Amino acid sequence: MSANDAPRAQQPSAAYDSAFLKACRREPVPHTPVWFMRQAGRSLPEYRKVREGTAMLESCMRPELVTEITLQPVRRHGVDAAIYFSDIVVPLKAIGIDLDIKPGIGPVVEHPIRTRADLAQLRDLTPEDVSYVTEAIGLLTRELGATPLIGFAGAPFTLASYLVEGGPSRTYENAKAMMYGDPELWADLLDRLADITAAFLKVQIEAGASAVQLFDSWAGALAPVDYRRSVLPASAKVFEAVAGYGVPRIHFGVGTGELLGLMGEAGADVVGVDWRVPMDEAARRIGPGKALQGNLDPTVLFAPTEAVEAKTREVLASAQDLEGHIFNLGHGVMPSTDPDALTRLVEHVHALTAR
Ligand code: CP3
Repeated sequence: MSANDAPRAQQPSAAYDSAFLKACRREPVPHTPVWFMRQAGRSLPEYRKVREGTAMLESCMRPELVTEITLQPVRRHGVDAAIYFSDIVVPLKAIGIDLDIKPGIGPVVEHPIRTRADLAQLRDLTPEDVSYVTEAIGLLTRELGATPLIGFAGAPFTLASYLVEGGPSRTYENAKAMMYGDPELWADLLDRLADITAAFLKVQIEAGASAVQLFDSWAGALAPVDYRRSVLPASAKVFEAVAGYGVPRIHFGVGTGELLGLMGEAGADVVGVDWRVPMDEAARRIGPGKALQGNLDPTVLFAPTEAVEAKTREVLASAQDLEGHIFNLGHGVMPSTDPDALTRLVEHVHALTAR
């Protein structure tokens, strides 16, 4: 089977009736489902222990290790969904891009893409390139039973930001220079990344992921007019490519208050909201027909329990009239977060919303 075959609707999985998937479909839920971006990772001592001595990208290619790391927060916190442990640059590494994840820095690309000739670094992704993903998801779905597994990928813009800059950036000056200065090259780059991303999400869905999230973490750097013209078409292509499976598609970015409507328009079923816009206002910006995910500021977890609970009630109050709400943080769990604060948060959301 090729990743480019037309998608078939997925067979309902054991997780079909979970609170998380119901909320994604905007159906009534027994309680508001909760999961956390970056729930699997450095905040957990058991994660640091199993990762010891293994580089980040190497860990992503070991199915047993990926399975263990993905399950850790499910066991510990009782979250309503697991998220596949990987990184957004894994599919790029898999097609042969020379890159590494440097501790304390993030993804670093050896030969940044700046010219048309550099585009030759990008080839199509096949399921064989990421056979370890298929294997790990097979192991995981068996272990998870009725708990849904979220697959994910980086969106074309966020991937391009690393590929063009050569690493993390605060200004995206090279990426934006290409976007404004050579719109045709930019469009071709994003279009290729859309195909790679779509193929990678298809692998995860075919292997058993019951939802997918597209991380456009850095899209908030863009003005709406530029997002619509130069980024939305590529993200829309990704969502369209996986629409036929019938699994919920989540679209998330940081600092995207001004882009929420457009991010919904790109085709997702669920729109992720960071902490800067209250959920009811986000729903007005996005319009009807979508579930929303979010949006406790991850730094709130460093405050005393009573303060966390007060902010949690605030989020739930602003989300009470939504068509569907998945509780999450407005961005990932910070590495120094007390894991017990996360466990308490899950319990608190469940208790407050039990119907
Ligand atoms: O706890 C951990 O963060 C452990 C492992 C790790 C991941 N990525 C897992 C990951 C590490 C060290 C990285 C490197 C990396 N890659 C960084 C962080 C640099 C640092 O040391 O702080 C960054 C920023 C990237 C690029 C990246 N990866 C982005 C922009 C995203 C999208 C999500 C986001 O945070 O905005 C990712 C996805 C990612 N990397 C996930 C995981 C487990 C995704 C899924 C999830 O939410 O769990």
